Amino acid sequence: MSQPTRSVIITGTGSYSPAKVLTNDDMSKIVDTSDEWIRTRSGISERCFAAQGEKTSDMAVAAAEKAILAAGIDRSDIDLIIVATMTPDMPFPSTACILQSKLGLGNITAFDIQAACSGFIYALNTGSNMLRSGAYKKALIIGAEKMSSILDFQDRTTCVLFGDAASAIIIEASETAGVGVLGSIAGSDGSDPSLLYQPAGGSTIPPSHESIDARQHFIKMNGKEIFKQAVRVMGQVSSDILKQYSFTSDQIDLLIPHQANMRIIDSLAKRMKLPLEKFHNNLDRFGNTSGASVGLALDEAYQMGRIQSGDLILLVAFGAGLTWGASLIKWQ
Ligand code: ACO
Repeated sequence: MSQPTRSVIITGTGSYSPAKVLTNDDMSKIVDTSDEWIRTRSGISERCFAAQGEKTSDMAVAAAEKAILAAGIDRSDIDLIIVATMTPDMPFPSTACILQSKLGLGNITAFDIQAACSGFIYALNTGSNMLRSGAYKKALIIGAEKMSSILDFQDRTTCVLFGDAASAIIIEASETAGVGVLGSIAGSDGSDPSLLYQPAGGSTIPPSHESIDARQHFIKMNGKEIFKQAVRVMGQVSSDILKQYSFTSDQIDLLIPHQANMRIIDSLAKRMKLPLEKFHNNLDRFGNTSGASVGLALDEAYQMGRIQSGDLILLVAFGAGLTWGASLIKWQ
């Protein structure tokens, strides 16, 4: 006898951004840049940086507490934690395990996912399928990044683009058909890691005095190539998921893209023939918060009343790897 298909619904959202805000003018005191250059090339006006000693897991705790409260659940019912991060507290143990302890949760399944800026969608995809399997009932999905810990504040081509933040959602299994996370798709192309990477700190170049002197433990990016790939791939994955679930782009009520660059989002909007009003963007205030970005925009859109019951929401992201992904949600 076939099992009824479980739906997976988002019952709570939350986010956290550090108190320390740096404007573009503040950045121009650190590197040779200007408010005009950063705004016109990226759309970013300011970003938040974590305080000294404030860890990725600390930001994740703050976002998670809000999502748990919003969902109105007893935290002891959470049976799964997935943290998307490329800036974990430490290489191991996982930030998810650290979070399990800090939130006082039971001895539940907890692990990290590393898919850079697509991390939130990879985590949502994985968590949704684990709930659909029937093995789990309530999951905490987190995107959390302390990008400032891997930024080279001598490299103006990267350090002005990123910020720190955390975002969280609670997803729950539901027997109501046709609502919630309708589906997600994800892809990758690892043929050229050097497009966007942190060369040192792993097994290829273990940390050493030399690697630190060569500034290899900071993010390196081929911005022009990443830009081209981001526009192409986010357009493709968006149209693929709409086709897969028999929707057309004009049926989307709200599109929440990864917040990397306003020019990338403008190009995506043109490609999809959608007005920018259908997008929720906040990169002007937060910059690119990598794995936290999609959840950060989702929480803000929800808090602002931009998401209503029955809305069709498309999340789409692109990041280092290269990785990409999209999730289609019918808000319950
Ligand atoms: N301030 C002033 N000038 C700068 C700065 C800066 N911060 N950074 C670069 N410049 C200069 C360059 O040196 C160059 O000068 P030159 O012409 O004298 O050589 C000039 O500005 C133009 O530089 P470009 O690299 O051609 O600038 P471009 O228009 O391509 O914009 C940018 C650069 C913003 C990085 C863009 O390419 C981009 O957004 N790429 C995508 C980045 C992205 O999305 N990354 C995140 C991926 S997600 C993840 O997984 C983390």
